[in-house]
Amino acid sequence: MRCTPLLETRGLSKTYPGGVRALQNVDFTLCEGEVHALLGENGAGKSTLAQTLYGLIYPDEGVIKLRGRPVSILSPRDALRSGILYIPQYPEFPHGVSLREVVKLYADARGRAVTTSDVEEVAGSFGWRLDFNADAGSLPLVDRQRFMLALGIALGVEVLILDEPTSFLSGVEVEKLLESIKKLKSLGVSMVYVTHRIREVYEVADRVTVLRRGRVVTTIDEPRSVPEDVLVSYVVGEKVEFRVERKRGASGSQALEVSDLVVRDEYGVLKVKGVDLSVARGEIVAIVGIEGMGQRELLEAIVGLRRRERGIVKVDGVVVENVAGFRKAGGRYVPGDRLEALAPDMNIVENVTVPIHAASTVVRWGIIDTKRAVNMALGIVKRFGVVARSVWDKVGSLSGGNQQKLLLGREMGIGDPVIVVMHNPTAGLDVASSAALLDKIAKLADRGVGVLFATPVVDEALAVADRILVFRDGRVAGEYSAEASRLEIVRAILA
Ligand SMILES: Nc1ncnc2c1ncn2[C@@H]1O[C@H](COP(=O)(O)OP(=O)(O)OP(=O)(O)O)[C@@H](O)[C@H]1O
Ligand SMILES: [Mg+2]
Repeated sequence: MRCTPLLETRGLSKTYPGGVRALQNVDFTLCEGEVHALLGENGAGKSTLAQTLYGLIYPDEGVIKLRGRPVSILSPRDALRSGILYIPQYPEFPHGVSLREVVKLYADARGRAVTTSDVEEVAGSFGWRLDFNADAGSLPLVDRQRFMLALGIALGVEVLILDEPTSFLSGVEVEKLLESIKKLKSLGVSMVYVTHRIREVYEVADRVTVLRRGRVVTTIDEPRSVPEDVLVSYVVGEKVEFRVERKRGASGSQALEVSDLVVRDEYGVLKVKGVDLSVARGEIVAIVGIEGMGQRELLEAIVGLRRRERGIVKVDGVVVENVAGFRKAGGRYVPGDRLEALAPDMNIVENVTVPIHAASTVVRWGIIDTKRAVNMALGIVKRFGVVARSVWDKVGSLSGGNQQKLLLGREMGIGDPVIVVMHNPTAGLDVASSAALLDKIAKLADRGVGVLFATPVVDEALAVADRILVFRDGRVAGEYSAEASRLEIVRAILA
């Protein structure tokens, strides 16, 4: 492929205040009109590189060039003016502003007369409905991501940097997104595409750069000619085997019973319309469906974080009314938006010991036993493969995937849970970590713990679940065994 360099970095290095060398002498070239995938395991430096190109992080050394000329991108405003937009893994908006106002802010920064209806039109072409008057800060994560994508397209940028855009999309939506990426490409938009999913690389990427520990391992010009295991070995530095072993069917008494659950969202819209489900001890039940169809409301109502209009939830045979009751009865919860459950300004030890199930094991005579707390944190860091310099690191300084691992470790790895409820547990995890997590879920169940998890990835459900529930329009629309075919389930999701 002939390459006209559009956006380049030369000798880019970044060491974070704590001493992590997130980028080391990185040379990266985005050619005009290409989709350039960035691969690398959790903590490799992908988001750091992406944010440097958007003026969110200043490099310590090196230059950024736009069309061959050195540029100083000191803020997102500078980047937008130059036609560059970065869409983060977890877009955040302040409370008290509406999406309408957010559109205006970006349009001003970009210097273009883009209106809400332009963004609405793009969103509509994906089949997404967004409430532009709602409080942007309290929008569900999936809607924030959808909004940013639609906004990026509407703003007519030349460079779109997408940081794991598909983590929260279901199969159908991923297809739509990949289609629109191809469409954008044909319109001349160049893209940096951060992902952990090799399949997406094959589908859309013209070139791939692999990062490992802050360094460029390789840039591949024709990724389609490189077999998957070779690509994966560039990412992890060695060959990895993925195998989930499961002694299926070993189930005991009911860990979780949900009957006739009815839930509305914050706007009063009926999202869960009478759901009955149960999970036995030692059983894994997966909920699959298009993200944003009420899974979040369903799970939040089950764990007691959301008001139930009707319905009963029992953990281990005990009726639970709220989150405290849920946790006391042995319930654990990993939300889809990890920042809802972690405090980024606190360190790992504090984050691990904050929930009651953990606190009760480290508090002695009313004070925290620091040694125990540190050991607990160290244990989780080790078993769940969290990459951090020490347990005193602030959680906000961990990469997205490492934050997720920490949260999973806290909810799965302490004490004796009865039921673990998870929303999108592998979102943001690299290939090897996702496989390791599915294996941990299987082991948890083998120990007699019930697991209920919602995922947009049908293959994940098929890999570990005993039963798969298709969630559609607020109801459980079908139940499948682990032997069901992928196609059968995808059809049911779309029906
Ligand atoms: N604000 C920060 N302060 C200190 N260290 C940081 C900060 N942000 C990131 N790091 C560290 O820099 C390294 C690279 O992080 P980065 O977020 O770029 O990784 P990533 O490749 O995007 O990973 P993931 O796939 O998990 O999202 C990690 O070791 C991370 O802990
Ligand atoms: Mg990242």
